Parts: sequence; C-alpha cells; structure tokens
Amino acid sequence: MAWLEIPNIDIYFVVAVLFFFGFVEFLLGHYSHSKRSKDDYILELGGFFVVGLTKSIVVFVAHYIATLIAAPWFGVFANWSLWLSLPFYLLIDDFLQYWYHRSAHEYKWLWKHHYNHHAAEDMGVFVSYRNSWVYYLIMPNIWWTAIATFLGLGAAAALGIMIKLVIISSSHSTWVWDKWFYKTKALSPLMSVIERIVITPAFHHGHHAKSKLDGIGDPNGNFGNAFSIWDQLFGTAHFSRQFPKEYGLMETPKDPWYSQLLFPFVKSNKVDSEIHANFEFKKYTQNEPLQTKLAAGKYLYCQCGYSKDQPFCNGSHHGTKQTPLVFEMKKERTVSLCRCKKTKTPPYCDNSHLA
Ligand code: FES
Repeated sequence: MAWLEIPNIDIYFVVAVLFFFGFVEFLLGHYSHSKRSKDDYILELGGFFVVGLTKSIVVFVAHYIATLIAAPWFGVFANWSLWLSLPFYLLIDDFLQYWYHRSAHEYKWLWKHHYNHHAAEDMGVFVSYRNSWVYYLIMPNIWWTAIATFLGLGAAAALGIMIKLVIISSSHSTWVWDKWFYKTKALSPLMSVIERIVITPAFHHGHHAKSKLDGIGDPNGNFGNAFSIWDQLFGTAHFSRQFPKEYGLMETPKDPWYSQLLFPFVKSNKVDSEIHANFEFKKYTQNEPLQTKLAAGKYLYCQCGYSKDQPFCNGSHHGTKQTPLVFEMKKERTVSLCRCKKTKTPPYCDNSHLA
C-alpha cells in the first residue's frame, strides 16, 4: 500500500484517532463530569510526549545496535506481502505486550511504573498515556517495532500501530460503543465473536475496576492490549459484558504528576505512596484472628498479607501474583477472620496460627 510509505503517516494517524475519540468524549460530556484533577490532565499530556520521545530514542538505539550486530539482516523481510507481514508483526507485538503488561501487575518493581495508569478514577482515551517514562523505555513491543522496521517490516509495523491504536483508544474510551451491541439481542452473537478476538471497552474497563467486589471487573485479569486471545489462552480472560461501578485503586496516594511520570528520578512526597523514598513493602500478618461483627454484604479478604487493614484487602497485592478473596455474609454475624494466612478455610480462622 503506497500510502503507508508517506513519512510519519502513523504519527498523523495517532493524532487523528486521539482527536476523534477525545472529541466524541467531549460531546458526550465526559470532561465536564470527569473526576480528573489538574495533575491527572498534566500527567496524561506529559505521558503523550514522553511516549513520542521514548519511541524516537528506542528506534535510534535499536537501529544502531542492529546495524552493529546484525547488518546482513537489514531489510531481509522487505519482500514479504502485507498479508503475511502484518499478522506476523501484530501477533509478536501483542504477545510481548500481554506478558509485559501482566508482569507489571505481578512484579512490584514494574508495578511502580504502571500503577499510575490504574490510579485514574475514570476512563478516557488519554488514560493509555499514564505510565512512567521507564515503562515506555523498556516496553518490549516498542523495541520489537524498531527491530521489525530494521528487518524490512516497516509498512506492516506502521499499519499495525494504526490498527492497535484504534483498538486501544476504543478500549480506554468512555464512549463504550459495545454496550449497545450487548443490549441488542440480534447483535449479541456477533459480539461473542468480536470480543473473543479484539479487546472491547467492556473487557478492558473490567481490568480498570477498583476491585472485583462488584462481580463485574477484575484488575488481576484482562491484560491483553489489542487482542483477547492471550487472556483466553493463559487463563486470565474475564468476560462480563458490563462496566465496573468504580475505577481506580483502592487507596490512591495522589502523587504529584512529575513523580508519576519521572519515577525513579523523582520520588513522591506522599509518605504512604509506593513511590516514596522510604516506602517499605512488608507483611502485616498477625498471629491471632480478628473477632468481628460483619453486616450482610460482600468483603475482600487479604490473602497476600501486605494489607495494613488486616484481614481485609487494601489493594497492596498489586505488583504481586496474589489476589484477594471475595466472601459474602448473607446476614449480620460475628466471625473469626484469619490474620496469619495459614488457615485452610479462608477467610475464617481454623486455629492454624496455634500450630
Ligand atoms: S492487600 Fe489485597 S490481597 Fe492482600
């Protein structure tokens, strides 16, 4: 496709897509009802420029290294048709992004560069630009794009970026177009196919849920970037076809935008923040249960031990492989909840702490 050869075509496309989704959100009144603070807006705008700058640096460095160590491979796939090179580029790109994103939720050091993405208390097309500069610098699919271009897959990479951008912008946007497909009975089967291939707004909004307490979202699932196939393959897919009641983190320290963007160069001035210089990631388990009266309702029991609100989850499990347990009280009752984390009957104490 000749138009793919237009210099910087992907950049023009990115700006056009963001403008389109931003404009639709504006028309829907999203910005007048947004929970965003001034810091949130600055962070998202700053993130947009950081991504652009980081990509340019990565492309330059990757090309330089590749020329030094793999010069004979330059342009080696240039004669591949787009029918072959596009799926090849996209599948590798999305596979890398799935595992990178999932790792950001399972390892604390990487979570500190991604937590700000989840600190957004409502969705929006610009939420996708909330990460620290380190998150973008080591993002494997940015490096893959640079390498693919070196190998002669530049057109596939440019087209792939455009396709992905439409899906990613749509999945973060408050313009949740898929809602109407779920409601319309005749279109529901079609959505069953679509949602099993690409990431829909409902699928990704579920990932941004504050917790899994409402039974709709699951922040520890739906890690996919453009395609939902990896989540289905690796057991993290959660299709609810609904939208969470609350977005964000259970406890948000409201770090200044410059700390969120420039960490670890600039640490947070909030003492409770995970990116504060003196933050200590430690367990708060206790060797005795909590006897307490709980009203009827659903609760999140901490299974990781890092919550300060033992035995209840406060979201500190983010950046580990552990998740909270949802339990329900049908009516008000006094219970004995385990705080040592050795019980075989969570959340209830079974006297394992005495062993
Ligand atoms: S803080 Fe959520 S499971 Fe421990």
